[in-house]
Amino acid sequence: MKKLLLVLLIISGQFFAKADEGMWMPLLISQNYAEMQRLGLKLTAEQIYSINKSSMKDAIVHFGGGCTGEIISDKALILTNHHCGYSYIAALSSVSNNYLMNGFMATSREQELPCPGLSVKFLSRIEDVTAKVNSYIGDAYGADVEKKFAVIAKEISEKANENGTYESDVKSFYAGNKYYLFVYQKFTDIRLVGTPPENLGKFGGDTDNWMWPRHTCDFSMFRVYSNNDNKPAPYSPNNRPYIPKHHLPVSLKGVKDNDYAMIMGYPGRTTRYMTSFGVDQAINLSNPTVVKIRDKRLSIMRGEMEKDPAVDLAYASSYAQIANYWKYFIGQTEQLKNLNILAQKEKEEKQFLNWAKENDKSLTTLMNDYQKAYAAYQPYVKHATFYREAFMAPAITKFAMSFDMIDKALNAEVSKDSINVLCKRILKARKGAFEGFNLELDKKVFAALNLMYYQDVPKAQLPAVYTNEVFGKYGSDDWQETFDNYTENVYAKSILLDSAKFEYMCNADNIETLMQDGAIVHALSVMQNYNTNYAPKVNEFNYEMFDLNRAYQGALLEKNKGKTMYPDANSTMRVSYGKVSSYAPKDAIFYNYYTMADGLLEKYVPGDKEFDLQPKIVNLLKNKDFGPYADKSLGGLVTCFITTNDITGGNSGSPVINGNGELIGCAFDGNWEAMSGDVAFDKRYKRTICADVRYIMWVVDKVLGGRMLMDEMSIRN
Ligand code: ARG
Repeated sequence: MKKLLLVLLIISGQFFAKADEGMWMPLLISQNYAEMQRLGLKLTAEQIYSINKSSMKDAIVHFGGGCTGEIISDKALILTNHHCGYSYIAALSSVSNNYLMNGFMATSREQELPCPGLSVKFLSRIEDVTAKVNSYIGDAYGADVEKKFAVIAKEISEKANENGTYESDVKSFYAGNKYYLFVYQKFTDIRLVGTPPENLGKFGGDTDNWMWPRHTCDFSMFRVYSNNDNKPAPYSPNNRPYIPKHHLPVSLKGVKDNDYAMIMGYPGRTTRYMTSFGVDQAINLSNPTVVKIRDKRLSIMRGEMEKDPAVDLAYASSYAQIANYWKYFIGQTEQLKNLNILAQKEKEEKQFLNWAKENDKSLTTLMNDYQKAYAAYQPYVKHATFYREAFMAPAITKFAMSFDMIDKALNAEVSKDSINVLCKRILKARKGAFEGFNLELDKKVFAALNLMYYQDVPKAQLPAVYTNEVFGKYGSDDWQETFDNYTENVYAKSILLDSAKFEYMCNADNIETLMQDGAIVHALSVMQNYNTNYAPKVNEFNYEMFDLNRAYQGALLEKNKGKTMYPDANSTMRVSYGKVSSYAPKDAIFYNYYTMADGLLEKYVPGDKEFDLQPKIVNLLKNKDFGPYADKSLGGLVTCFITTNDITGGNSGSPVINGNGELIGCAFDGNWEAMSGDVAFDKRYKRTICADVRYIMWVVDKVLGGRMLMDEMSIRN
């Protein structure tokens, strides 16, 4: 009988209730340690996170602010995703020397390529500063919390930065119920070591993106350089590879179903405590708006990029980023509906209400307050989305927006000198603003998205420019034609696009004339209308949400006292643990937990942008030339595998680590059936997609000729 009960508990998942779901703070990992051991972890908690001894956390970097990387050699070799290195690889490429297309491998230190603008951060320590922050914030609400938090956070982090090359940060957890200090060391001399050609690093393109089964070899390699004291330093040819406190050994042993898997990295943002009202707004309003705008923008970009390899390269990175979250929002909407997340949230809210009635009467109106806040914000959601996604899309508009500060200065009648100071700043920014700029593409985006803005944003909220300029001067019954003619005129006459003229005009003497430029008039009309009338509504909503979320999550912490409850992701280091695991996405369909190189050949379409492969790679695959990277029992090359780990955007590039602390893969995506995962974790379907480390090593060695890199790693066979 006892045995039966045990079996039942295991089947119903109760036993492992805490596994899989949760992005845990490494500082508090002892809470989860027993569970992790039970699943197969062999390391001590200290080996994962320690501030006195070197530990796993010392091998993890926050890469470029939005991704994760791991150190895999004692010479600070970084492994991250191809899509994390993408913009840097593209920036180093030209049409005649295209590393993005052909791949790259430095065969000596001298060949490693500096990446301007790229930095990585190592975490030194985490400290609970809740008491300090709370005593300063007191009983403030909304906007006041933000103001006070900024002051105390600055004070705490500046103190932490004393005596060292640190860069610290205080972050809010559980929506302002806890605060932690993070002390980092930031390195800015980062160099590209190697990357696969795009048709491996992004194999499957947008078609396969966010989907399993997958065959993408989504990795790239960089190196951290330091000065001779092993400290961060700006780029210098005299810098040398940083000596890291810890690096991950690489296991070539491979994975099996149910093997323990752990991921450490920097998840960016989740909203797991979002209420049903938020889910409703996402499904019915904000997500479809984003998708509609991006659909249009992407198709215009594609059309122009296909015409010219130089345009293709210049816009490749921005296209990939826009497309990634275009598909994300399609998938999120679909799965929020499929998995009935709305009903699930409503059920949780009912339970909460019952608990509140028993335990804290003041919380019984909380859900009503949420409902009211969402309802009050609803009329402005489209406008806020269009402002961000459509209005700011053309490069000319983005640049023209900087004249808002000149406009304000002119209205305040400041001196000529101050105008000249502002003009100098704008002149300096101009170069970057039009880097890789394509006139046709920008014009088409401007015309199409302004037309959409005009059609979709409620009429009463539209800025004057549409009546005065667009329809006043170019109006006809054909709206498309109206916007095309308006656009043609703005771009044909704009001084912003002519660097010599612009330089001549951008100063106090000519500023009044410059301010009449059609692109500036357009940008300021839309921007000032939004900032005056609608940004305050957005802010009001955000502050209201902050207060409500603080109350809700504070109450949930109380309700769950004695149990562990993980905070939403906030771009701080987290640990997730789970196991390698297959899944069944639909009735009668079963997805195995790994893919193999045969699948690359099955998907291969010569000449196709997403599924092409270079002849050299096809040959290696056909000859089954897998060397020591082949899986011993399967007799072929394993390409990708899936685990039950809980990750999100920002985790990209994170190490997938086995029970012995060895690297088995590099996490790079989530799966379609669980695209609602940032809002609600579904245990049945949520998987993390990882490139098998043996696939990565095969590409480094056989495809890129980078065997020597293996000599600096600690390979475990
Ligand atoms: N979906 C992946 C992520 O967000 C990025 C994949 C990049 N590849 C692409 N085809 N856009 O982590």
